Amino acid sequence: MAIQWFPGHMTRARRQIQEKLKLIDVVIELLDARLPMSSRNPMIDEILGNKPRLILLNKSDLADPELTARWQEVFLKEGHKAIAIDASSGTNVQSIPVEARKQLEEKFAKQIAKGMKPRAVRALIVGIPNVGKSTLINKLAGRQVAATGDRPGVTKGQQWIRVGSELELLDTPGILWPRFEDQMVGYRLAATGAIKDQILNVEDIAFYALRYLTTHYEEQVKQRFEIEELPPQLDEDPNAVVAVMEDIGRRRGCLVSGGRVDLEKASGIILRELRSGKLGRITFETP
Ligand code: G4P
Repeated sequence: MAIQWFPGHMTRARRQIQEKLKLIDVVIELLDARLPMSSRNPMIDEILGNKPRLILLNKSDLADPELTARWQEVFLKEGHKAIAIDASSGTNVQSIPVEARKQLEEKFAKQIAKGMKPRAVRALIVGIPNVGKSTLINKLAGRQVAATGDRPGVTKGQQWIRVGSELELLDTPGILWPRFEDQMVGYRLAATGAIKDQILNVEDIAFYALRYLTTHYEEQVKQRFEIEELPPQLDEDPNAVVAVMEDIGRRRGCLVSGGRVDLEKASGIILRELRSGKLGRITFETP
């Protein structure tokens, strides 16, 4: 799904979330653990105001665990608890109701002091397209409730999904736009599959990804593609990166007549293996 965000979409998406905020106690902000900044809405603080918030770093199965831990510290310093989860397999998903409730401890303490019995916490999941909102909603619900591939601006009747006795979740997530302010953000989002390949050229995306991988995850690249030595100064010499792309293409049989390497095909292989975790656990942003 390729969403093109125009100012009108952004305004509508923002308004829809702000409408829903009136119904809920806590926001669950879903980020991609491989790129916590680029997958974060640039206006998130403004949109959510002072609503209690829990951050989830999703797809942590694909992210570098060391960097995920560092990002968690960064968010904590910012005042937000961040949990690393994998919505597909369900890793750490069971801790969400408890953690969401913890964000409201003060409010509940006051209610209990007044002799009231606190009700289930009401939550809304927000995040950019493809970050895993529907997967998470379905996992929490224990059944298929959210259709994947929602688009901003399409409203349907909303329902509460009961998650145990602690949490009630709105079944339609809030869809937000990612950061776009610099071109590199676009490449990071594309490399991880958050924006689909039709928007940017597949060879450009693979080039960006491979340059990053060969400089930050050299051993993983060498191991996966069975390359003994990589050329030096890959981060400074674009031709050296292209040479590695060609090398990978040759090793994987992506050849066209005359023995030339089909770079588009090689790019597809690099990106598929990166996105599916075959190159190991990779994070594109360092705190
Ligand atoms: P959205 O509602 O936020 O738009 O995202 P959605 O749940 O549709 O998830 C987007 C893609 O990310 C899906 O893959 C989904 O399986 C995958 N995904 C979600 N959470 C995780 C996670 O924690 N780890 C991993 N590895 N993948 C995750 P898809 O290719 O679009 O579909 P499919 O592979 O499920 O068929």
